[in-house]
Amino acid sequence: MNYIGSKYKLTDFLDNTISGVCAIDKDTVFCDIFAGTGAVGRHFKTRVKQVIANDKEAYGFVLNRNYIGNYREENYNSYLSELENIEPQEGFIFEHYCLGGKSERQYFSDENGKKIDAIRAKIEQWLRSKEIDEDGYYFLLATLLEASDKVANTASVYGAFLKHLKKSAQKNLELKPARYEINGNSHKVYQEDANALIQKIEGDILYLDPPYNAREYGANYHVLNTIALYDTFSPKGKTGLRAYERSHYCKKNEVHVAFEALIKNAQFHYIFLSYNNEGLMSENDIKTIMQKYGKYNLATTPHQRFKADKTEARNHRASSTLEYLHILEKR
Ligand SMILES: C[S@@+](CC[C@H](N)C(=O)[O-])C[C@H]1O[C@@H](n2cnc3c(N)ncnc32)[C@H](O)[C@@H]1O
Repeated sequence: MNYIGSKYKLTDFLDNTISGVCAIDKDTVFCDIFAGTGAVGRHFKTRVKQVIANDKEAYGFVLNRNYIGNYREENYNSYLSELENIEPQEGFIFEHYCLGGKSERQYFSDENGKKIDAIRAKIEQWLRSKEIDEDGYYFLLATLLEASDKVANTASVYGAFLKHLKKSAQKNLELKPARYEINGNSHKVYQEDANALIQKIEGDILYLDPPYNAREYGANYHVLNTIALYDTFSPKGKTGLRAYERSHYCKKNEVHVAFEALIKNAQFHYIFLSYNNEGLMSENDIKTIMQKYGKYNLATTPHQRFKADKTEARNHRASSTLEYLHILEKR
């Protein structure tokens, strides 16, 4: 998934830097507390004793519950092929996010919207009738989220839809299994505010990748939350937004306090924070806060800026930015 702030392309940098500071092995409890798509936890999952993954958004929980939470080998092929051949049906997504539903919104083609509705309803029905367990439920849901995102008619995030159906949105929704790494250990997955969760967990390595600017994930990915939750509500405004909780990490006047509380309450030996040089907290703000709680260090690497689409990329001032990894060995 092309996700704002995804660390998918930075996992080698993270791995090399973290390994240079502390051991990552079969005794390690590694926590990815702003996990998003789960890219970082997935990278370390098979090497450690346990990954604790968390994200406050519902779609993030679904992705992590599958990619991190699922660890046993299962065969869901028959379910996938039944879903692939399902009869499209008009439901909440078609009604509110497709032109045919008269909402005047066009996040998906009519055909794909109806397919998403039919698949989503079937997955729920299978869970309720105990045809599938929670592992299967989240595997199939993650598969549907990934597939829906591929055919979404947006420039990448869901803050707006495009006027005309773009090429990728005209393609038929295709379910590619959301494969997860098999391993012998169980992991933990939460959907909580990071500052609340930090008071209840402990471990060795805490990886922090909070939002670094005012862009709220709940607004930018609201349609994925709606597919994940599949509840009923009144979509608001031109984009059909649902109510969402704002993050302290997206607010200039709250982020420093929230960040310090997180560091202070963390019961982890090592803390690593990804942040970029254009964030709400300056490099110096972060250093000042982290230094209060132990031995501080910093690593950097050049990184491609998030691109919504090719046009935006062309218009950008610079396509590369610096990615910082702040390091704290906690006292
Ligand atoms: C920069 S993204 C993380 C990207 C992730 N490392 C990846 O590679 O996909 C920040 C994430 O923090 C989540 N988030 C924002 N505020 C949060 C909070 N207070 N508690 C927990 N998660 C939060 C967002 O939903 C978003 O997924």
